[in-house]
Amino acid sequence: MKIKQPVYAIDNIISDYNDLTVYETVFHNANGYIGVRSNFEEGYPEGIDTIRGSYINGFYDIAEMKQAEKLYGLVEDKQTMLNVVDTQTIYLIIDGEKFSMFEGTVKESKRWLDMEKGITGRYIVWRSPKGKEIEISIKRMTSFTQLSLFTIEYIVKALNFNGNIVFQSYHRGEVQNYSNENDPRAARESSRYLVPAQAVVEEGVSYLTSDTSKSALSVCTGVAHRLSKDSSIVTKLEGHSASTKIDTAIVENESIQLVKYTVFSDSIRHKDCTANAKVEMGKALTVSLETLYQAQFVYLKEYWNNCLLEIKGDDELTEAINYNMYQLIQSVGKDEHCNITAKGLSGEGYEGHYFWDTEMYIEPFFNLTEPSITKNLISFRYKTLDKARENAKILGHAKGALFPWRTIMGTECSGYFPSGTAGYHINGDIAYSVVAYYLVTKDLDFIAEKGAEIIFETARLWMDVGNYSNGTFRINEVTGPDEYTCMVNNNYYTNVSAQYNLRWAYKFYYMLKEAKQLTNIEKLGITEDEVREFERAADLMYLPYDNTLKINPQDDSFLDKKVWDLENTPKEKFPLLLHYHPLHLYRHQVCKQADTVLAHFIFEDAQSMETIRNTFHYYEKVTTHDSSLSTCIFSIMASKLGLIDKAYDYFGDSAKLDLFNTHKNTKDGIHTANMGGNFMAIVYGFGGLRIKENSIYFAPSLPKQWEQYKFQINYEDSQIIVEVNAKETIFTLVKGGSKVIHIYGISYNLEDVVKIALQG
Ligand code: BGC
Repeated sequence: MKIKQPVYAIDNIISDYNDLTVYETVFHNANGYIGVRSNFEEGYPEGIDTIRGSYINGFYDIAEMKQAEKLYGLVEDKQTMLNVVDTQTIYLIIDGEKFSMFEGTVKESKRWLDMEKGITGRYIVWRSPKGKEIEISIKRMTSFTQLSLFTIEYIVKALNFNGNIVFQSYHRGEVQNYSNENDPRAARESSRYLVPAQAVVEEGVSYLTSDTSKSALSVCTGVAHRLSKDSSIVTKLEGHSASTKIDTAIVENESIQLVKYTVFSDSIRHKDCTANAKVEMGKALTVSLETLYQAQFVYLKEYWNNCLLEIKGDDELTEAINYNMYQLIQSVGKDEHCNITAKGLSGEGYEGHYFWDTEMYIEPFFNLTEPSITKNLISFRYKTLDKARENAKILGHAKGALFPWRTIMGTECSGYFPSGTAGYHINGDIAYSVVAYYLVTKDLDFIAEKGAEIIFETARLWMDVGNYSNGTFRINEVTGPDEYTCMVNNNYYTNVSAQYNLRWAYKFYYMLKEAKQLTNIEKLGITEDEVREFERAADLMYLPYDNTLKINPQDDSFLDKKVWDLENTPKEKFPLLLHYHPLHLYRHQVCKQADTVLAHFIFEDAQSMETIRNTFHYYEKVTTHDSSLSTCIFSIMASKLGLIDKAYDYFGDSAKLDLFNTHKNTKDGIHTANMGGNFMAIVYGFGGLRIKENSIYFAPSLPKQWEQYKFQINYEDSQIIVEVNAKETIFTLVKGGSKVIHIYGISYNLEDVVKIALQG
């Protein structure tokens, strides 16, 4: 399928140096295994901020986490994703003058991302201080079909001279991570994590292997060059770096092409990563660049076939949404050794950690477009279940598993436990995601093999952390999604997700028993008595409700606090976390992000519409949306409540977050959860989609700004296209057997096409 608005492009005449780091993120290349920021090949002059980085998903070292007071069980070290190499650097020298965007005259300059081809590029026309003019076209690709491979195709054309050009290209193994001591979202201290192990040049290819300082891992990168004309290519080792010099003549109107190949390998996936890098390089060099580009295109064609989403009447928005979906496939891990980081592979914000973002914001997208990716993400959690069991023990629990709030390889990495480890809802989120995957695929075999073990171990944890009191089951001293309210009793979101987790443990037990697939579960020692206890706790789960306001309070003490005066808080004081002491925030009714409102979206059957409506209006007044995970949820709930203009405004705020750098931190990386949330705001919000145990439901609405929107989803064995315009909504079954679907509460048999008048 051809996508509309496949190219995102900007004119790139540099006026503000701060934009440079933002575009390094926006135009980065990644494929789920590797990510390379979009740094200029020739670099910037000294003193201009840059984050020059290349990353491997799941590859980490251990960094010290300094705790001022050594209390029992506090985290003392963390994993951090490493900048592993710099292979981006290529200097171009024409008759002794070095090309730079900061000298001479930049007559034209563009940067672009082609989302159908999976390639980014730069196009520049430059006049040197001495009057030589050149045209430069650069294309970059991280291959989806050979995950280890990153290519730079660099073409230079002489426009008004005959002369000499030199490419000076580098492969640097001694690199560091970026740090910013003033921003809690970036690492504070910069350390050198990689220790040089081996450097060789074989058949003109340089291979640099480094070891991590503490995690006992190794990484190897290989770099090769190919030039479109015969010329000498000389590669020399200098310490733990290699430099390659290519010196050649050029005549007016001649174009010369240099291709720089980098392969990455690591010891998590390959015992001998140096040997593997050599194999990978051999593979890359046996095919032409054109063949590699073609394979990239074919891969993405298949991807776009599965995630059609179009808005008629707003091309810019369609482009932003395509951008978001493209970033999700770029960012998501493609093997069981990794997951999807909060910033994808585009930057170092949050140090490459995986959060609940995966389960609640990103998997809903993959469930509907490419469920095998969700399966992989759940398999990653399954693989780390033993670490989660250990974590539960550290926190004093006698049984069950507690997943870490943030992690790379499975152990807890949050330094500040009130808005980290205390976020026990991560357990409910992971359990929820297993159920969500099941509801969309009905893949009971996967539940038997892996999913159920996660559900039972998380259910056991709730039984241990909670307790019965006055005939109800309560969960004390936890933090819900809203990180401006910490360490509370009976956070509504946490309790309702624990209830769901416990109920599904019960259900799965009997489903698996009937299917004679309990073998894997029996080894956990789960008995019928235990699952009946799960059901009892779920039935008696305490869900806070306020009789006067007729809302669900966020927790037991939320409504007793002073309401934060958001209206009179100066704009420059946002995000509040950078300007106010945490205790000051915790003492107020002020929310960083959707909490109870999110609970009402995902567990909508737990409350009446009246409670849901009142609760939405109440929290709207006290929510700052300082987290990028928030406005998309408010948009979905505004749609549910028929507040379409409001839904549209919330949606607009989040759709272009990274393209417009609205949170002012895109330089540290894209916001992957927000990108998934955006998709949800259309499909679950405007489209009103819900997938429940017995059926699939839609309740479409159309913002007045749009003529039409259209999306496609996978559901069980079928693919359904939903088209909504001002007159009607059209449901077309494009694949699979007929389905019973519910539209505005009425059931229809979808065999081919169902058309219904638009309501509302
Ligand atoms: C949010 C968390 C989120 C994290 C990573 C924080 O700002 O409050 O909910 O998991 O960012 O995206």
